[in-house]
Amino acid sequence: MGQGTPGGLNRQLPGDRKNDGDKKEKKFEPAAPPARVGRKQRKQKGSEAAARIPAVTPLTKCKLRLLKLERIKDYLLMEEEFVANQERLKPQEEKTEEDRSKVDDLRGSPMSVGNLEELIDENHAIVSSSVGPEYYVGILSFVDKDQLEPGCAILMHNKVLSVVGLLQDDVDPMVSVMKVEKAPLESYADIGGLDAQIQEIKEAVELPLTHPELYEDIGIKPPKGVILYGEPGTGKTLLAKAVANSTSATFLRVVGSELIQKYLGDGPKLVRELFRVADDLSPSIVFIDEIDAVGTKRYDAHSGGEREIQRTMLELLNQLDGFDSRGDVKVILATNKIESLDPALLRPGRIDRKIEFPLPDIKTRRRIFQIHTARMTLADDVNLEEFVMTKDEFSGADIKAICTEAGLLALRERRMKVTHADFKKAKDKVMFKKKEGVPEGLYM
Ligand SMILES: Nc1ncnc2c1ncn2[C@@H]1O[C@H](COP(=O)(O)OP(=O)(O)OP(=O)(O)O)[C@@H](O)[C@H]1O
Ligand SMILES: [Mg+2]
Repeated sequence: MGQGTPGGLNRQLPGDRKNDGDKKEKKFEPAAPPARVGRKQRKQKGSEAAARIPAVTPLTKCKLRLLKLERIKDYLLMEEEFVANQERLKPQEEKTEEDRSKVDDLRGSPMSVGNLEELIDENHAIVSSSVGPEYYVGILSFVDKDQLEPGCAILMHNKVLSVVGLLQDDVDPMVSVMKVEKAPLESYADIGGLDAQIQEIKEAVELPLTHPELYEDIGIKPPKGVILYGEPGTGKTLLAKAVANSTSATFLRVVGSELIQKYLGDGPKLVRELFRVADDLSPSIVFIDEIDAVGTKRYDAHSGGEREIQRTMLELLNQLDGFDSRGDVKVILATNKIESLDPALLRPGRIDRKIEFPLPDIKTRRRIFQIHTARMTLADDVNLEEFVMTKDEFSGADIKAICTEAGLLALRERRMKVTHADFKKAKDKVMFKKKEGVPEGLYM
């Protein structure tokens, strides 16, 4: 409003002045003076007003402009401050970023291990890790693409998951651990009795590997494997160790519980890997101890874990059926709960040779006592026959425990020789623990 009024005046005044002046000067020249005076006065007034207005209006205008400019200045100042801050803050961010990457380098960034599912083109592939989903990722240029093939183990960047390398040795590390490199110390000579069992395992496992032609001559297929079963401590694991000790074939050893894996699908994969390695290193013997961990009867599994165990077992059955012929791979299973095993596992064509390990009879007991006391210094009064002929039921492991216990008793009294009394006490102790149902291993 304040701006409008003086502006309007200013504009109107010069126009009025010009038009009126021109007309009146031509028409009333003589009589002009008074008018002129009037005009002049008015003009003067106008000019006065004009002179006065600039004194007032520009002031307001200037103030306004000043205000406006001040605002702009404020704004610019703010902007300047902002930009300055930006510049001051930015290097810091970059610095922290640099520091962080350095720390990362120092730490060494872990690479995840995955599986190559499919090669899409030169630079892209579908990968999966054990945790779950599959990803479409890039392959870095320095990876040797000739070596990549579906199914091989690869190294992936831990964040973007691109393929950064491949594991040369694509054997699952778990499987290479299973290979028995150092032969166990136990040999056939350390087994008391069990002659029939030794004979049978030699026929079923070792002979087909060393003399396959014998079976061909007769025209039968050698058994795929055997299962050793019987009471705990009757020497099943021991016999398998003796086989590993004496055989020239590769010996792979797994415990059933090892095949139960945390991640979905890893159990069956491990079984597959195991048999693949066995095939690669053939002739070979695969020994799976405590097979009841995976081989229990197939029933309606409810929990995910049970189903996973079942899948592992099914894969085991599949491997035993051996679509790809595995003539040179023999399987030894061991369990002390054969009745809980799935009949499918034991049906003819799979593991049909069952070798029972009974509790030792008198002759065998004598032999086992001999074996375990062979390196002990015995006093003259020791009469082992008393224990051999006893009516109590002993397993081989019990006999070993008695001998160890007797030795420990002698040691406690700093005697160099083990006496008959030591054996007696030891036997009572072992029998007592056995009846109580306390695992002997706990106190041995
Ligand atoms: N026939 C035997 N001759 C000599 N020692 C034996 C015999 N049987 C068992 N033993 C002794 O008992 C120990 C335990 O035997 P082993 O580990 O073979 O038992 P197992 O049959 O595998 O039992 P489990 O079913 O509990 O696994 C052996 O280390 C060995 O010292
Ligand atoms: Mg065992």
